[in-house]
Amino acid sequence: MKSFFKKYINIVKSTETILYTGYVTGVKGLMIESRGPRSVIGEICTIKYPNSEKTLLAEVMGLEDNKVKLMPFGDTKGIEVGCEVIATGHELQVPVGKNLLGRVLDATGTPIDGKGPLEVNEYYPALAFPPDPMTKKPIDRRIVTGVRCIDSLLTCGKGQRLGIFAGSGVGKSTLLSTIARNTNADVNVIGLIGERNREVMDFINRDLGEDGMKRSVLIVATSDTSSICRLRAAYVTTAVAEYFRDQGKDVMLMMDNMTRFAHAQREIGLSTGEAPAQRGYPPSVFDMIPKLLERTGTSDKGTITAFYNVLVDGDDMDEPITDKVRGTLDGHIVLSRSLAQQRHYPAIDILQSISRLSRRVCGSQTLKAVTKISRLIALYEENREMIMAGVYQKGSNPEVDLAIDKHQAIEDFVTQEEDARCTIEDTLNKLSALAEIEIPDEEYVENPAVNRKTIAELVKEHKVEDVVNENSSASRFDISKNLNLQ
Ligand SMILES: Nc1ncnc2c1ncn2[C@@H]1O[C@H](COP(=O)(O)OP(=O)(O)OP(=O)(O)O)[C@@H](O)[C@H]1O
Ligand SMILES: [Mg+2]
Repeated sequence: MKSFFKKYINIVKSTETILYTGYVTGVKGLMIESRGPRSVIGEICTIKYPNSEKTLLAEVMGLEDNKVKLMPFGDTKGIEVGCEVIATGHELQVPVGKNLLGRVLDATGTPIDGKGPLEVNEYYPALAFPPDPMTKKPIDRRIVTGVRCIDSLLTCGKGQRLGIFAGSGVGKSTLLSTIARNTNADVNVIGLIGERNREVMDFINRDLGEDGMKRSVLIVATSDTSSICRLRAAYVTTAVAEYFRDQGKDVMLMMDNMTRFAHAQREIGLSTGEAPAQRGYPPSVFDMIPKLLERTGTSDKGTITAFYNVLVDGDDMDEPITDKVRGTLDGHIVLSRSLAQQRHYPAIDILQSISRLSRRVCGSQTLKAVTKISRLIALYEENREMIMAGVYQKGSNPEVDLAIDKHQAIEDFVTQEEDARCTIEDTLNKLSALAEIEIPDEEYVENPAVNRKTIAELVKEHKVEDVVNENSSASRFDISKNLNLQ
């Protein structure tokens, strides 16, 4: 009997019986200022429009004596001094459940696809901490993106986080939509932040299509929404992905794009009185980026593989947002404008791109083939001007000769039609034929490197102490040669 009541006693105990309210005292720039209510930073408040049932959601951004600074999730048109402000007692929460699949939400987690309300009874906080690094599962399974160039030369693992970097109009969104359609992840969670209205409809109807949509959740904050919407949409996207990861799923999270997220925080930071630092970005922008990006990846239950698009301002790869995002992630895919101009799609610049974890998810023969092809691409690029000018004499360097012979075949291998889907079997078969290196069947599985020895194990097997003693004057390079480390 006691336990029967316990549930209700707990509900009563946790119920806030006092309604904290305040009233609007002014609207300054993007901010609404109010006197009261008693609230904490990050808390969601509702503001009542005068003579209407309508309310406006706003987040507490600053506190000063009894003055509250609120950032509204909608238009401030119609708000006047004296409007009632009510504290909800909680931060931004996201409705979660299996029913989210196939739905389109806004930055507050409200459906905007006209398919009716969501039927869920669980909520996740939009602002959460990353999973405990000590309990994270290792990344040892390959994810298939369906893009041949990535699946072969820049192989990614389930739970890896990558950035796609390029200037405007080079093909970031198109590459992301190809991955969304073709990946073998269980669920896609896609955040469209600061995109044009037209692009959102194109993404849903043209790029994803009905089948893609069935296993996807979209969170949308277009360029015309308020800066807090664009900012929080990235958090809501991450929270939805976290829910599916907690269900043990392999999730593919895609964010288009992180630069708009940084712009939104810049607008908010500057309007709350922060000083501009690097290129006008206040310090909070650089603090927020890793906090958001570290939430994806593996946990003890499932994985979130993440692709973050970054619009590189003025094609300058050293601009601060690009630099910060690149440094936080486990790999970067750089798209080149000159390749796009030659209609070489996807315009991936292989020599500038890197997947830091590909060694963990590829077999050793596959790695050999990848190394060979990458080297041939590098050699061709190094000698491109001489080859083009007809100055290069065939026979001067057998490796360059091979790079020239294979050039067209490599170009065909790394490019693909926008609507083409490349299976991993086909990709590895083609890679093997191109590199003339046999890839055994056991490397076609999802986790070909899982039984490969770690560096620590190899060192242990070779009794490193003996080798180090023998080579006390040798350099580290010489020692690893003795150990025959690969
Ligand atoms: N794989 C592809 N095949 C054919 N055309 C492509 C491909 N990728 C990109 N394009 C062309 O490039 C144009 C721009 O691509 P996209 O919109 O993906 O670029 P973006 O980098 O996302 O641009 P923005 O920075 O403006 O968002 C497309 O409209 C299309 O014409
Ligand atoms: Mg785009």
